Amino acid sequence: MLEGIIRRLPRYEIPGLNVKFVDREIECKRLFYWLLKYDISWNFVVYGPWGCGKSEFFRALTWSSQEVEALHMIYFNLARELCEVSLLSRSTLKEHVISIARSLSSNYVDLVLNLYKLMEGLCKRMNLTDSRVIVIVDEIKNIIDVYGEALEYLITNAELTSRHCRAKLNIKNMNIIFITSEQTLAERIRRYEGKSMTTLLMWHLPKSEAYQLLGELKVPKEHRDLILKVCGGCPRAMIEISKTYENNVDLWMMNVMDRVLAAIYNYMREYGRSRSEFLRELKMILEDIDEIPRLKMYDVFLKHNIILPLVQEHKRLSTLESSLRTEGRIAYQLPIYRLCLQAMCDKGTPKITLKDIRDQLGG
Ligand SMILES: Nc1ncnc2c1ncn2[C@@H]1O[C@H](COP(=O)(O)OP(=O)(O)O)[C@@H](O)[C@H]1O
Ligand SMILES: [Mg+2]
Repeated sequence: MLEGIIRRLPRYEIPGLNVKFVDREIECKRLFYWLLKYDISWNFVVYGPWGCGKSEFFRALTWSSQEVEALHMIYFNLARELCEVSLLSRSTLKEHVISIARSLSSNYVDLVLNLYKLMEGLCKRMNLTDSRVIVIVDEIKNIIDVYGEALEYLITNAELTSRHCRAKLNIKNMNIIFITSEQTLAERIRRYEGKSMTTLLMWHLPKSEAYQLLGELKVPKEHRDLILKVCGGCPRAMIEISKTYENNVDLWMMNVMDRVLAAIYNYMREYGRSRSEFLRELKMILEDIDEIPRLKMYDVFLKHNIILPLVQEHKRLSTLESSLRTEGRIAYQLPIYRLCLQAMCDKGTPKITLKDIRDQLGG
């Protein structure tokens, strides 16, 4: 089963981007290790830095699984419309999913809370006996936005759904994988860890794969080292630099600087911190980022996607870049964030310029 998916994965082409999907074999293997490890009704939450490629990875997986027998993957993106299902799932499956979805509810989010009904409908229309079903629900933040404090319900409901599907519908197993880039949400979900759910971390592309993507994007060779140094293999950042900023890395860095500054002003305002108090705290976290959960700055930096908490090594789908200590608990989502903060600390003010970041980079 896994071999078939891995073979097909590099053939996936990213819609609208005109680049080939850069290999995610390790993630694929580790994910299936977890899926097969628990041959019981067990669900997963995959989180990671904003733009590291979670959505694209699961779209690629769903597409690659089309030809694998006895495996049915269904990908929903709650930020988009039903068309994504039709793009990626096997053709018979996609037609049924769409027609059942339409008969069940006009609200896309409701559908995810009624997955048992969807599965029941599918089993009536096609033979899923002894098949493995994997339902992927991307952008779960939208459920919370629609239903408010529905998180606990979502998690418990997911457990019941997969248990019922397995017990009553004669399928081999069903797993639900939730995906989010919202760090505040990921943090809340982790409280339910271990009951019927495991949180897995995905990371940016490793160095050689990141170079490969820069090549696909036709980024001039002279910019590549600098780009990797500031964005640490983040595919979204690389695409942004190449397409939106036409390889003008300085312009991109200035934009990031403004975003970091906005987060900091937000923090100082919301929690009444003076500049010197802020700088004192900043010095402390630059010495050891793992100290940040003690501070209110933690919530703001999570919300603004500047940092994220790491799970233990065995729950990481990706191999983290070597500059991130494996035993560390907190990481910057992009290396440029640390560079900006270090420049502020060195200069003694949040008001830094491009030159200050360039100095941090060694000229
Ligand atoms: N393995 C990959 N190869 C090439 N491009 C990728 C890869 N992973 C992600 N991308 C691209 O990078 C951008 C961000 O990826 P996305 O999956 O949206 O990130 P996330 O869901 O983690 O926020 C998208 O434009 C996506 O097409
Ligand atoms: Mg996404």
